[in-house]
Amino acid sequence: MSERANFGSRLGVILATAGSAVGLGNVWRFPYMAGQNGGAAFIVIYLFCVLMLGIPCMVSEFIIGRNAQANTARAYAHASGGNKFWTAVGAMGVITGFLITSYYAVISGWCLQYIYASGVGELKGDASYVKEYFNNFMTDPVLPLFWTVVFFAATHFIITRGVRGGIEKASKLLMPLLFVLLLVIVGASCMLPGAGKGIEFMLLPDFSKVDGNVCLGALGQSFYSLSIGMGCLCTYASYFSRETTLLKSAVQISLIDTLVAILAGLMIFPAAFSAGIEADAGPSLIFITLPTVFQQAFASMPFIGNIVALMFYALLALAALTSLISLHEVSTAFFHEELHIRRRWAATIVSVGCGIIGCCCSLSLGAWDGLQFFGMPLFDFFDYVTGQIFLPVGGFLTCLFIAWRMDRQVVRDQFTNWGTVSLGFYNVYLLLMKFVCPLAILAIFLHQMGVF
Ligand code: PFF
Repeated sequence: MSERANFGSRLGVILATAGSAVGLGNVWRFPYMAGQNGGAAFIVIYLFCVLMLGIPCMVSEFIIGRNAQANTARAYAHASGGNKFWTAVGAMGVITGFLITSYYAVISGWCLQYIYASGVGELKGDASYVKEYFNNFMTDPVLPLFWTVVFFAATHFIITRGVRGGIEKASKLLMPLLFVLLLVIVGASCMLPGAGKGIEFMLLPDFSKVDGNVCLGALGQSFYSLSIGMGCLCTYASYFSRETTLLKSAVQISLIDTLVAILAGLMIFPAAFSAGIEADAGPSLIFITLPTVFQQAFASMPFIGNIVALMFYALLALAALTSLISLHEVSTAFFHEELHIRRRWAATIVSVGCGIIGCCCSLSLGAWDGLQFFGMPLFDFFDYVTGQIFLPVGGFLTCLFIAWRMDRQVVRDQFTNWGTVSLGFYNVYLLLMKFVCPLAILAIFLHQMGVF
């Protein structure tokens, strides 16, 4: 156990895990959801979900991971005394991580193309041109694959350098850089004429929009944004030292994640309002609407507009990279420990395996559009299965595992660092794990399945 790799510092723990949490979900999904679902009212509900559900679930994954000092599959096996069902639950986390790694890298690769395109000024043109540019790029049989491979190469390079020399070092460099870029763009965006309306849109509460759907949306977003239910937090926690306070770390990581999400909104909406363009959802927001927004908002200073666009895509790529590293690590740790092979080889299996699946996902959006499952391109199918099914099911079972299956003394020891920190919220935490969190996750799941 003493030979196991670990993060070398508290800051390393926080930045690496926050790096996993801060990703594409913060930059495109959160601002849009906040904007459309009542602005500040949504943010308040979101904060409530993070506090009451996200943080406790994060602590649970930390407990399982640090207790076992092993990959996610083995961590569940360890804590359940080798029970087959619970081992399968852990393995499901690894499979989810593996599949998400594949298509997350494809979207990350798109950011690289857009860094290039903003740099050489290829994105200049009216809205329909930018739309066509994106569609042509996405359906191109070669270019997206090229960028996916480049992204995997970067991730692979970092992962093979190990936990401390790779993941921790990269996070300490990339996360501050991400923050600087974010603040610069927020500043530029908020100084545009008419930006105040965008800030209002994002921050003025409109409680009339709040209903059950909005609450479930906020809950789902908080889980995705905090990387819950996919084995990432469990794997990272297996590298935490005995001194890491789990609750405190979860609070700090969630604060960083939420701050980035709110700042992302303050980056996008002021510019969009200033340009008079309505910001819409998902990939089209980032890759179709925003290039036009930057162009029009900075029409009188096109050079600055170009730089802002370039910085934006660089920021997105950085956020995606730190998340992809954590996703990759879930499977790398699994192969490394279960196949008893060197870390380098384990990482190669993951990079090549996910690379091939990722390329198939990418091709399913264009050249191989016949590659469909249940009427969805492979890309959308993976997104659906992992995000809508595996994630809530995994999260739900994790709550039950901690609350009803795991040795209570082990949970308590992990929570209090073997009695060295106060019991504090321990009883509240247990109560949340026993009833509140599983019921809330069940509600999201049934909602997504269309049951109510
Ligand atoms: N939390 C990341 C985001 O907001 O983009 C996505 C993610 C990364 C989800 C890692 C799950 C995960 F394990």
